[in-house]
Amino acid sequence: MITGGLGFIGSNLAHKLVEIGTEILLVDSLIPDYGGNLFNVEDIKDKVRINIADVRDESSMKYLVRGQDYIFNLAGQVSHIDSMRDPFADLEINCRAQLSLLEACRHNNPGVRIVFSGTRQVYGVPDYVPVDERHLLHPTDVNGINEMAGEWYHIVYNNVYGIRATSLRLTNTYGPRLLMKHNRQGFMGWFIRQAIDGEEIQLFGDGRQLRDPSYVDDVVDALLLAAASDKVNGEVFNLGGLEPVSLLQIVELLIEIAGNGSYRIVPFPPDLKRIDIGDYYSDYSKITKALGWKPKVSLREGLERTVQFYRKNKQHYWGNEA
Ligand SMILES: NC(=O)c1ccc[n+]([C@@H]2O[C@H](COP(=O)([O-])OP(=O)(O)OC[C@H]3O[C@@H](n4cnc5c(N)ncnc54)[C@H](O)[C@@H]3O)[C@@H](O)[C@H]2O)c1
Repeated sequence: MITGGLGFIGSNLAHKLVEIGTEILLVDSLIPDYGGNLFNVEDIKDKVRINIADVRDESSMKYLVRGQDYIFNLAGQVSHIDSMRDPFADLEINCRAQLSLLEACRHNNPGVRIVFSGTRQVYGVPDYVPVDERHLLHPTDVNGINEMAGEWYHIVYNNVYGIRATSLRLTNTYGPRLLMKHNRQGFMGWFIRQAIDGEEIQLFGDGRQLRDPSYVDDVVDALLLAAASDKVNGEVFNLGGLEPVSLLQIVELLIEIAGNGSYRIVPFPPDLKRIDIGDYYSDYSKITKALGWKPKVSLREGLERTVQFYRKNKQHYWGNEA
């Protein structure tokens, strides 16, 4: 079962699981402004089961978790800025619903194995880089706080009730099937869209902020490796990209690959500046040691594949403005 299975990472995982030959149930609420999109599973729609349900609905979850061997728990409200504008929706989805999913498992499927998608946002403004898992958690926004709690419910249920769970803390993930309808769900998607459309990309601050974007196939590999190993029950792991790059470098590469677009450095909008985390990149050596995971796809290759995907499928992602 994949919660958030019609979203970006969930649907890429679903493609991989179909390739492997696994039976899959995709659970997703398809809330309009979020990343769920039926087109994400268009080419595998006859090979998966889909249940349009909200993880906040306890009765549905109690029923849906039954008989599942693995749950990839990826459903979430992902936008940091939206978590500040509507903190209660973020609380309900990223925190309370996580607890009710775990309660559903405790009562109806305690033998299940869960992989949770956590986030580097739990670290807040890094005290040092690269950030390892020992770094203090001091999030800068409501989303980071709720994600922190959502993650730790999984670890506590693993430790106390033996419901096997692992959390992977994702960094900026990009690739085909990422939401493109608006710019509130991370900069990667929006920059890619603007480059394809030949628009001017606005870089906030000085463009020198460091990030280590992950290509989605690498993230999918990590999710599968984590699910397949009982050595990592109760553990949290950072994921990361091949190397730190500045936002400016990302944009320059993207403009080159798309053969289109331009950029301009502009002051940070105050509401975004207040929750910005500055420079971030991960130390992911813990998961390399435990599971042999390392990112493989370079930024150039990942962006090339992504731009190619959206050139072909733009009408399914751009929303009303396309
Ligand atoms: N993409 C990233 O860079 C990134 C970084 C850190 C963490 N994550 C985490 O990974 C997970 C997947 O993210 P994504 O990038 O695929 O985003 P996404 O928005 O594409 O996918 C999330 C999916 O969850 C679904 N969903 C949201 N609320 C729901 C609810 N109440 N009930 C059922 N389904 C619901 C959405 O419809 C969407 O399909 C999220 O939990 C996110 O916090 C992603």
